[in-house]
Amino acid sequence: MRIAIGCDHAGLALKAMLATGLAAAGHAVEDVGTVSEASVDYVDFGAGVARMVRDGACDRGILVCGTGQGMAMTANKHRGVRASLCHDPVSARFARLHNDANVLALGARIIGPELAREVVRVWLATPYEGGRHDRRLAKLKAIEEGQ
Ligand code: RB5
Repeated sequence: MRIAIGCDHAGLALKAMLATGLAAAGHAVEDVGTVSEASVDYVDFGAGVARMVRDGACDRGILVCGTGQGMAMTANKHRGVRASLCHDPVSARFARLHNDANVLALGARIIGPELAREVVRVWLATPYEGGRHDRRLAKLKAIEEGQ
């Protein structure tokens, strides 16, 4: 998969660990930064990843900040982006099965590295279930389009 990944200063270490693991697993990883612990605004990096998913440059996006909240809020402002904030594998599984989430937000101050790795693994491996969920996603899209 082509995966865009981004973080703010609070998510730097976790993002680096996840990016290394994803590349080792054979994914094409596009790291939009940040690249240092200097304080930055999560919005800038969340938008960078969300745009890549929205525009089809990447299949999925992964965002890491302190809590994951700001990243999820930022990503969900973008047309076609369905960002899910998941700190456990069950949430990650259902975000894919039922919501066809295409962006995953994580909070580095909330979750440990091993659990984060497992959340990412499940989130990437789980397919969208379709069926009755298509109708709900179509309604989300309609809201996005101002209907
Ligand atoms: C940065 O201190 C923190 O606010 C940010 O990483 C994130 O948690 C925001 O949602």
